[in-house]
Amino acid sequence: MDMKTALFLTYQTARSAHYAGQQLTLPFLDRLATGRKRPLPEDFEAKRLQTLNALFDLLKEDSTRISAGVYPWEVLKPEGPGTHWGRFARILMDGWRISHRKEKKDAHDFDDEARVYLEEVPEYYRRNFHFQTGGYLTRQSARLYEHQVEILFAGGADAMRRLILPLMREKWPGDGEGLHFLEVAAGTGRLSRFVKLAYPKARVTVTDLSWPYLQEARSRLADLDRVEFMQAAAENLPFKDATYDAVYSCFLFHELPHAVRRQVVREGMRLLRPGGLYGLVDSLQKNDGEEFQWALEQFPTEFHEPFFKNYTSHPMEKLLEDAGLQGARCQRGFLAKGLVAEKP
Ligand SMILES: C[S@@+](CC[C@H](N)C(=O)[O-])C[C@H]1O[C@@H](n2cnc3c(N)ncnc32)[C@H](O)[C@@H]1O
Repeated sequence: MDMKTALFLTYQTARSAHYAGQQLTLPFLDRLATGRKRPLPEDFEAKRLQTLNALFDLLKEDSTRISAGVYPWEVLKPEGPGTHWGRFARILMDGWRISHRKEKKDAHDFDDEARVYLEEVPEYYRRNFHFQTGGYLTRQSARLYEHQVEILFAGGADAMRRLILPLMREKWPGDGEGLHFLEVAAGTGRLSRFVKLAYPKARVTVTDLSWPYLQEARSRLADLDRVEFMQAAAENLPFKDATYDAVYSCFLFHELPHAVRRQVVREGMRLLRPGGLYGLVDSLQKNDGEEFQWALEQFPTEFHEPFFKNYTSHPMEKLLEDAGLQGARCQRGFLAKGLVAEKP
């Protein structure tokens, strides 16, 4: 391994250990909140070791890609310590409420701020995914979200999001000049930032169904130019046919009912120019191998993820093929896969 890769990997390993440390505080908080000690899964130590090894492999591949220039080192730029620790304190306070919600199995708990939006979103979306406070419908949820996901994956979430970039790079090695990308369900814009760093001259349209998440994305991406924002459902996008060179999403499909997943891919296909790329990053599925079957089974028992089981049994590769997309290419890493296919 060359010096540059080793440097990136050392930083990424330390960052990951930092988030893993934050993750370790949550069971204590959960116990304090509920008075219950949740039992450890069977073969806990072996599973933990397997997970850490897979995470390390992903960080190593990601670091190699950074030093090879697949995307710039700025994807690793950390936020300021004040912002980080202030948010972690709020996550701990919120963790208390999540534990109570989880204990009561209450996934329909909304305050007045969230209720304003409930009418305008589909039924499958009106819930507290992951038992998250506010679901996707409050500013506070949007502020905490990326950090919470990074804790959940012990610092592996960003590198998983980046799995789509080497696949895009194979088609577009340059700076993105003349390209127009559409990101659906962009959340607070984490992958949008990585795509813009890799393709500084591309124009990127960032969409999400959640108004508060989109507002958060707008403020987080304010330093980037040629990025525009639009609140929109991934299955019904207000854009003209054959407009985009790439349409992609990250961590969306596992949160959708099967019929909506199909609709989302069809809608992306409609919006792509011929030769354009449809892309996604999402959880591994059953067809991706035996290795993490236990994790795929465990995840929806701990977090409110009502469509996850169905998602894992219906390969995304097949859905893309059914929509007429061709030449699917896949990049797996840790608990996720990046997948792209082309519109003929
Ligand atoms: C797990 S988050 C992923 C967010 C972001 N892509 C990321 O990488 O962190 C799921 C996102 O999908 C959005 N979402 C869910 N269903 C949607 C739909 N039908 N149309 C558009 N966005 C949707 C949510 O609002 C949320 O921001």
